[in-house]
Amino acid sequence: MPPPPIRRIVVDAPHVPVAPPEPLEAAVRARPRLATDAVERMRVEDLTIAYGPKVAVNGVTLPVHQGEVLALIGPSGCGKTTLLRSLNRLVELTPGAGRGGKIVLDGDDVDVIEVTDLRRRVSMVFQQPNPFPMSIFDNVAYALREQGSKRVKRSELMAPVRSALERAGLWDEVGDDLDRPALRMSGGQQQRLCIARALAANPEVLLLDEPCSALDPRSTAIIEELILQLREELAVVIVTHNLQQAYRIGDRVAFMYLGELVEYGLAADVFERPEHTRTAEYVSGAFG
Ligand SMILES: Nc1ncnc2c1ncn2[C@@H]1O[C@H](COP(=O)(O)OP(=O)(O)O)[C@@H](O)[C@H]1O
Ligand SMILES: [Mg+2]
Repeated sequence: MPPPPIRRIVVDAPHVPVAPPEPLEAAVRARPRLATDAVERMRVEDLTIAYGPKVAVNGVTLPVHQGEVLALIGPSGCGKTTLLRSLNRLVELTPGAGRGGKIVLDGDDVDVIEVTDLRRRVSMVFQQPNPFPMSIFDNVAYALREQGSKRVKRSELMAPVRSALERAGLWDEVGDDLDRPALRMSGGQQQRLCIARALAANPEVLLLDEPCSALDPRSTAIIEELILQLREELAVVIVTHNLQQAYRIGDRVAFMYLGELVEYGLAADVFERPEHTRTAEYVSGAFG
């Protein structure tokens, strides 16, 4: 029997045309970098992903570099989330999903890496903040306990929990009230808690799927600042439909359209000197 039809509700906000960045933002973003200092952490090669007969990602080849933010942009439905979810093999949890091509993490095919280990090393934060219904402390400690230290005492977990909350820029706000239920935090705090939870496992690659789309501008600014700091220590891949955001925080940008990678390059090149007409139209806000 064929699966029932899936009704998808598109919630993406309309696209904001790109305006020149503020001088200060440009200064934050523009970290001079030579192409040669970019260490490749992940690579997808000729990646194709289909849901049943529907091809969502079509023949994409793309590197992911240490110390950089890679921003995936493109209109709704072009395969950004699918590509992101393939990097830690979450996509295979979708019934009927099939994959062709290769994904490599530090030289190893992701298929030969034990899957929970892969998902620790390549950690994902979703569009809607999804803290567990437990305390702030337990949310972050969860990842540590999962790593085999289930019986460890709270006092021993305090240092790594604190460190993760600090890296996520949340410690100053919640450090004196770690027993507070996570679900009572603001949306922006919840999303940073989810980032802290992801960081607690010491990932090498952090995947963020439109992490700010449910947040107010202030929380968005805090998280963008945080991402710029995090890229120093790991590779970050962020999906965003906010072109301003891709411009502000992306070191490299990949523009996808109908499942294909149309253009990939340094953010300044993709936004200011795109090679393809389709990219030029998209980044100027002509279609979304
Ligand atoms: N679970 C699914 N089952 C069937 N089709 C899906 C599923 N998830 C996504 N798709 C389809 O795959 C394509 C790419 O979706 P997605 O990766 O979510 O795009 P984006 O994140 O760019 O909006 C779309 O046509 C979408 O309808
Ligand atoms: Mg998506």
